[in-house]
Amino acid sequence: MHLLSVDQFGKDDLEEYCARANYHRQSRQDTSASGKILANLFYEPSTRTSSSFYSAMVRLGGHVIPINEVDYSSVAKGETLEDTIRTMACYADVIVLRHGEVGAAARAALVSQVPIINGGDGVGEHPTQALLDLYTIRQELGTTDGLHVVMMGDLLHGRTVKSLAKLLRLYDVRISWVSPDQLRIPEEFVRHGETETDDLFEVIMEADVVYVTRVQKERMITSYDAREQLTMNYSVTATHMAVAKPDMVLMHPLPRVGEIPTSLDSDPRAAYFRQMSYGLFMRMAVLAKVLGPKTWG
Ligand code: NCD
Repeated sequence: MHLLSVDQFGKDDLEEYCARANYHRQSRQDTSASGKILANLFYEPSTRTSSSFYSAMVRLGGHVIPINEVDYSSVAKGETLEDTIRTMACYADVIVLRHGEVGAAARAALVSQVPIINGGDGVGEHPTQALLDLYTIRQELGTTDGLHVVMMGDLLHGRTVKSLAKLLRLYDVRISWVSPDQLRIPEEFVRHGETETDDLFEVIMEADVVYVTRVQKERMITSYDAREQLTMNYSVTATHMAVAKPDMVLMHPLPRVGEIPTSLDSDPRAAYFRQMSYGLFMRMAVLAKVLGPKTWG
């Protein structure tokens, strides 16, 4: 089984993943990946995704081939993605792939003998981040229904917002979209009647979740100054927090580059560090699932 897009999931699957993540959170004894090898193949920078998958695999008793610097692999000699995947599939039981092109994970899956997990494909999807984001919302608020979720930042290039938005559509959730005009969410993600604005104040008062993302400078072709300007204009401030609900949940997939000042970290509503640790348990669940029925029980 490959894990390429959140389109693969139904509500029952999400229940299963969250239950399994809970299990891993409570039990540190599970060694269901014993004797198995994960290849972590990252063509784009990563801290949390690569390290949490690494840690998850080791905690499950498995081993990891980490290729975080593709520049030092045969990719630097011009090897195609397909050939690199065929190679890693000979040595590993599962591959986590992060790549700059939309659809790269799907391409990899066509030639791979072992499961491919999409660890982010360009501006496309980031399905395991969406799973851990959903799990975070569940852990923090106890439900995914009846919520008003605000997505803010670079909604055009951000893959995490796209995957999470698709998952949230399985539930009774209203989404509001906050971004500079140039970085709006593609139309197909917006439902009739939903708010699109460039001003967080317009929607924060009624928000149950505020999901903030950074401006993805590396995916933009505008000038340096224009990019800096966009970044500076989009941050959550103490004044925003003052008018937000007392139990609002402030999330960010991280890395942050100024959208949430460190002065907000001590606010109990700031959930981004907890979100990061929920990610480990969800990635243990993901690995157990794709490694097959023997490890998923
Ligand atoms: C995100 C990503 O790579 O899409 N990071 C992550 O996986 N936690 C968000 C980002 O890079 O802005």
